[in-house]
Amino acid sequence: MELNKQVVLVTGAGKGIGKATALTLGNYGVNVIATDINVGNIKKTSEEIKQLGGQSTFMEMDVSKKKQVDVVVDSVINKFKKIDILVNCAGAITSGFLVNLDEKKWDQIMDINTKGVFLTSQAVAKNMIQQKHGTIVNISSVASKTGEVGNGVYSVSKAAVNMLTQTYALELAPYNINVNAICPGYTDTDIMQDVFEKRGPIEGVTPDKYREMLISNVPLQRMAKPEEIGELIAFIVSDKANYITGATINIAGGKEVH
Ligand SMILES: NC(=O)c1ccc[n+]([C@@H]2O[C@H](COP(=O)([O-])OP(=O)(O)OC[C@H]3O[C@@H](n4cnc5c(N)ncnc54)[C@H](O)[C@@H]3O)[C@@H](O)[C@H]2O)c1
Repeated sequence: MELNKQVVLVTGAGKGIGKATALTLGNYGVNVIATDINVGNIKKTSEEIKQLGGQSTFMEMDVSKKKQVDVVVDSVINKFKKIDILVNCAGAITSGFLVNLDEKKWDQIMDINTKGVFLTSQAVAKNMIQQKHGTIVNISSVASKTGEVGNGVYSVSKAAVNMLTQTYALELAPYNINVNAICPGYTDTDIMQDVFEKRGPIEGVTPDKYREMLISNVPLQRMAKPEEIGELIAFIVSDKANYITGATINIAGGKEVH
């Protein structure tokens, strides 16, 4: 794939899907700027990319803080002169019924999952507009498409990501910038562990039983590996996917088909 020598900024690159995506893109010859709130983890991500022969640096960035986002994007542009690819992967989840949800929790999830995508895309897109090229991928979720008991604010935050994707795609298309969302299903990361532990009891079952129940509802009968999401992202940001924009693409083992 034609990804060599491109510069990517990955948010949430400290672990899970973001780290797997950073490593996958690093393997394809992309220069990876790994960002996250957890500096120890992104340092490790960058080191692993370099050990595999790739290029990478890391920078602390909280996607929900406009000042931090602007400073990091400016310093990447100063150093590397461009950002070809943005992967918005940072995310957080909370479980519980909406009727009991604390307002602060609502704000926290919306700030990271939704405002984070808005702010980071805005800062990067301003530069992509000057370059007249670029591609942005937002990690949404199948939870954005069908409501679930005990997952309200997360679903709302990701449904909003789909609309940010469509709107940015339309507004940025004249500048040769593609914007798409990937909607993973159950993927084997810490976020899913949290879901098993917190939502199992809500459903009246143990975390292990809840895990079994969720996986039995997936037609392919397993969770995704984070690397599988990384490979799809590598395709979507490559030249081979130039005609795809404004899409929300499921990678969910058949769990969601719309
Ligand atoms: N794992 C799944 O089943 C699944 C399914 C669908 C969508 N997703 C989405 O994929 C993305 C990655 O999730 P994951 O499963 O790898 O989870 P994870 O918990 O393993 O990783 C999330 C990463 O985001 C970082 N992060 C959290 N808040 C941040 C902030 N304010 N600024 C910057 N970084 C921040 C964390 O430090 C962590 O490194 C999320 O957007 C999540 O909603 C995950």
